This record gives sequence, structure tokens and C-alpha cells, in this order.
Amino acid sequence: MKVRTFKSLNITYLPKYATIFVFLAVFALIFMLTHKGILELCGTCRAHAERLPVPAQFQKKVNSVIPIVPLDFCTFTPLSPKDANEEKVILQSIAWPDTPPLPSPFYLNETSDPAHSTFSILPQRSRGRWHMGDKLEVFIKMYNFQGRPKKSGGDVIVARLHSSTLGAGVAGQVVDHLNGSYTAVFSLLWEGRAQVEVTLVHPSEAVTVLHRLTREQPDRIFFQSVFRSGSVTETTTCNVCLRPTQQPVCNYTDPYTGEPWFCYKPKRLSCDARVYHAKGDFKQNLQAGEEKLFQSGVNMKVFIPASGGDSVTVMPKQKGQTAVKSSTAKSEPSGYYYQGAWQSHGRSTVHQFNTSSAITQCLNGKKVLLYGDSTIRQWFEHLNKELPDLKEFNLHNHKQVGPLMALDYANNILVTYRCHGPPLRFAKVPTSELHYIANELDSVIGGSNTVVVLGIWSHFSTFPIEVYIHRLQSIRKAVMRLLSRAPDTLVVVRTANLKALTLYETLTNSDWYSLQRDMVLRAVFKGINVHLVDAWEMGLAHHLPHSLHPQPPIIKNMIDVLLSYICPVKGS
Ligand SMILES: *[C@@H]1O[C@H](CO)[C@@H](O)[C@H](O)[C@H]1NC(C)=O
Ligand SMILES: *[C@@H]1O[C@H](CO)[C@@H](O)[C@H](O)[C@H]1NC(C)=O
Ligand SMILES: *[C@@H]1O[C@H](CO)[C@@H](O)[C@H](O)[C@H]1NC(C)=O
Ligand SMILES: *[C@@H]1O[C@H](CO)[C@@H](O)[C@H](O)[C@H]1NC(C)=O
Repeated sequence: MKVRTFKSLNITYLPKYATIFVFLAVFALIFMLTHKGILELCGTCRAHAERLPVPAQFQKKVNSVIPIVPLDFCTFTPLSPKDANEEKVILQSIAWPDTPPLPSPFYLNETSDPAHSTFSILPQRSRGRWHMGDKLEVFIKMYNFQGRPKKSGGDVIVARLHSSTLGAGVAGQVVDHLNGSYTAVFSLLWEGRAQVEVTLVHPSEAVTVLHRLTREQPDRIFFQSVFRSGSVTETTTCNVCLRPTQQPVCNYTDPYTGEPWFCYKPKRLSCDARVYHAKGDFKQNLQAGEEKLFQSGVNMKVFIPASGGDSVTVMPKQKGQTAVKSSTAKSEPSGYYYQGAWQSHGRSTVHQFNTSSAITQCLNGKKVLLYGDSTIRQWFEHLNKELPDLKEFNLHNHKQVGPLMALDYANNILVTYRCHGPPLRFAKVPTSELHYIANELDSVIGGSNTVVVLGIWSHFSTFPIEVYIHRLQSIRKAVMRLLSRAPDTLVVVRTANLKALTLYETLTNSDWYSLQRDMVLRAVFKGINVHLVDAWEMGLAHHLPHSLHPQPPIIKNMIDVLLSYICPVKGS
């Protein structure tokens, strides 16, 4: 089993990852062995799924580092003891190192300052000569605004190694030493120049704030629903959990998946009169001065300078070469760019589908069913743009919400898109279109002509992570039911990605939130027969700026990875 690369992962957690992977594999195996016979019946058995009280350990602090505990008004009950156990393991695995408390009143002086911080390429063991297959280690030392060394960890740092002339790039793995220093480890996968780039995404003190916001204000993004009957229209606030008030509540918890959703009951209308879901607004509740922790160009997404050289020249692999290994990081990147094209670093090969005829030939006779958020809708749009014979059928639905459908009659290709269930920050979604992916998958027949693509992450950032874990667990169960009834179905999961950050974007959708959800996603789908498109690394390794909706060259590479899963070239 290949060990995944988790950026900014503290080395002390690596053994825990190993534990989860083993756990998930064993869990998946036991589940398959014990549930094989009843999987097909689960459409009926789900409704009777046991609801157990939250085990005591989840109501207290999950770990001593940073508790990821929602306030009392926002607690969630895992559906089964197995789910609860998995949730516990996942929460432990993503626990972030302790981050410093903030001074009150707030001032920046002692917080991490990228301009004072430095990185240096570690020369030892390679004697300054690097070869393909070696590991390159970079030592990062953090300082505060007063130029004093930082003594604790928890900064959010990403790193890439790249060459603009070669169109090459690879994500590094950052290991936190918890003492103000970090090591970034890179795999050397191309010959020639390679330049190190280290970026402070957030100082550790910003994580203190981001974490507090989710704990204290899990409802800071809120939603609305319009209720209508005859000439009466009312609008109320909705969320995954609502603060208790005198107002009665409508409970829209999904009977099959158990996904929670609530609206305050309208005064005059019944809960059944709900016609639209819509995004509400965002309550920003920072304490005075804290916004200074989120300044582009100062301490958010800022390069950390090199203290010496920032480049190496990578020589060809030598006969009998013993590769320089890393003692701090063992995992491998999933791939890298070379001449602008994503190369897989694993067993599978990525092929380039440069022309519409190459794509059409691959998709001939296929149904491609896309489910998720706007980052997966981009793939629908890309295929529509690239394939002149694929015509979008106008279903008169809102572009964000879908469902969207495109057909190529001659080649018998169907591509559809449907958004995931709430929470959804879309302008206006008819309640009849609020479908959970797990329930949708239960109506997919599946088979060798069916490709299911899932991309669900960015609307979950502000809510307690348990909401996301639960959502993915229910999707995974549906994927396993699908793969059990139609094992030839191809299931592909797109991971999260880094994005451009402003203060608003950060408080609602920081890369730190995405990173944690990305780790959850990989953990939940580990060990089952789904294929990942590593959007995280594909965005990080590329020279184009981080973007919630990556630019066309990156999408083209993602589609190449997708098509390579659908149409692997024989013998590779
Ligand atoms: C912050 O640093 C500045 C400049 O070093 C110094 O003048 C100021 O007193 C410091 N503030 C605090 C609260 O330490
Ligand atoms: C922090 O820990 C790393 C790894 O153990 C070590 O190499 C480094 O010297 C330490 N730095 C300080 C300032 O203690
Ligand atoms: C909402 O409904 C679900 C399922 O019908 C139930 O399990 C849950 O306890 C209800 N929640 C509240 C707060 O009433
Ligand atoms: C696809 O296009 C790229 C860039 O133009 C080129 O380098 C590559 O060889 C092409 N691949 C195929 C399979 O046509």
C-alpha cells in the first residue's frame, strides 16, 4: 500500500496514519466479508440504522492538542459504533499541533513573520550533488516580527520544487518539528534545475483564530429557506445546526443518510411549505486586531526567503546509485509536472488526451456522472468546451445547481452534473433539487460503461469537521453498495485544492480548513476501489496561482488523469 503524502503533517503523526490505513483496510475487509449478502438490501435497512448516543469520549476533548469539539448546540451522532470509531481515529490523525494563544490586546510582534523566516537546502549526505531518485531536504526556520526564533509549531506551510524552463513542479511534504522549525522533503523526479519555493499560508497564531471560529461559531455561514403557500411567503434561517431559541425548528434530517439539516419554522407556514434553499450570509466575529493575522503580502500566502541558494541541479541516475533518502519524511508525491503535463509517480500512467477525437474515443459509449461542488462542475464545463459533438441539453436549471446534462448521440456519450446536498452556498436551489450524493448513487445501476466522479469539499469548511466525516462516510457506504452490485463501475474522487486567500475567503474557506478536509477525504476513501485525482498536489505543484477553481491548464491535466483511469493504455 502506498503511503500518501500529507503536506504539513507532523512527523509524530505518521505512525498514526499507518494505524488508520491498516484500520481502514481491515474495516473495509471485515465490512465486505460480513455485509456482502445484505448490501443489496440496504435501501431498506438504512432507514432502520441504529442511532446510538454519542460516546462519552467525543463529548469531551478529543485530544490534548487542539480539541475539535463543536459547541453543544452543534453535536452530531455517528450512525454506528464503527462510524464512531473511525471518526475518532480520523480526528486524532488530523489533530493540529498546539498553536500559541493570542495576546490581548492583539499585536503581531510575536507571531510568525515570513520575511524574517528562512529556508536552507540541507547539503549533507549528498555532498552537494543530487541525482534523480534522491530526496532533497530543506530546513525551514521560523521567526517572529521582532526577528526572534519561534519556539512552537503549527504554522501552515506548503512547499514546491519547480523549474519554469522545464515546465516541471512537484509538491513537497512539510514536517513540523514543533519547535519553530520545519523540514520540507522533495522527491527529485526530473533532471536539470530545480528551485525550491516555500510558502507560509498562515502563521500558527492564525490557526488559533480559525480553530476558535469553528468551535464558537460553527454557524457563522448561515443559509435561508423560502417557504410559500398560496400568497404567503416566509423566509427563515437554516443550518446544519441551529442555536436553540423559543422558535420551533423544522427538522429536514435525511431519513436515509442521517445528514442533519434544520430551519427555524416559519410563523404562519408549515415545514412542508419550503420551496427554496439559498445561502444567507456570513457573520464575521474577529476580535480587535486579529485581522492583522490574515494580510496578503504580509503573513498570508507569502514566500519564505532562502538564506542561501534556493536551487539544485539534478543529475541523471547513476549505475549502482544508492538514493539519498529522507529521515524525516517517507511518503511519496502522487505525481509531478514535466513539460506542463502531469506524470503519475505511482503505478498508473497518465496519458495526454490532447484532441477532441482522443477524448471522444475514450468516452465512447460511456456515462460520466459528476457529483459535487463547483470544482467538479468545472470538469463538466471543460468536457463541453473540448468536445464539439457533446451538446449540453438545456434542462432550464440554474448553472450552479444543475442537474446538467450533455449528450453526444453519435458516440453515445452522456455527461451529467449534479450538486451535492446542503450545506450549499448557492444563490437559489429548489428544495426538490437538494439531493444527497449517497442517495443519488443508490439509483445508479453502474457497470463498465459508468464512470462516477465525486468532488465534495469546499462548502464544508466552516462547519464542525464531524459534518464532513459523516457526509463522506455515507457516500462511501453508497459507493461500496454500488461497487458491490456493479463491480465494473469506475469511481473517481477529486480531492480538495489550495485557493487564493483574502480575509473573507480565509475566514470562510481557508486552506487550513481545506487541508484538514482533504486529509479526511483521503482517509475515508483509503483502501476501497476508488481512484483519486490529486487536485491538492496538482494545484500546489503548478506555477499558476492557487485558485478555488484551478485554471484551464490544470483542469486539462486533471481530465487527463480521469481519462487515463477510464482508458488505461494496455501494457502500462
Ligand atoms: C512590538 O514591537 C515594537 C517594535 O519592536 C515595539 O516597539 C513594541 O513595544 C512591541 N510591542 C509589544 C506589546 O511588545
Ligand atoms: C528542532 O527540532 C529539529 C528536529 O528534531 C532539530 O533538527 C532542530 O535543531 C530543533 N531546533 C531547535 C531550535 O531546537
Ligand atoms: C431530527 O430528525 C432525525 C431523524 O428523523 C432525528 O434522529 C433527530 O433526533 C432529529 N433532531 C432533532 C434536533 O429533533
Ligand atoms: C499533447 O500535447 C503536448 C503539448 O503540445 C505534447 O507535448 C504531447 O506530446 C502531446 N501528447 C500526445 C499524446 O499527443
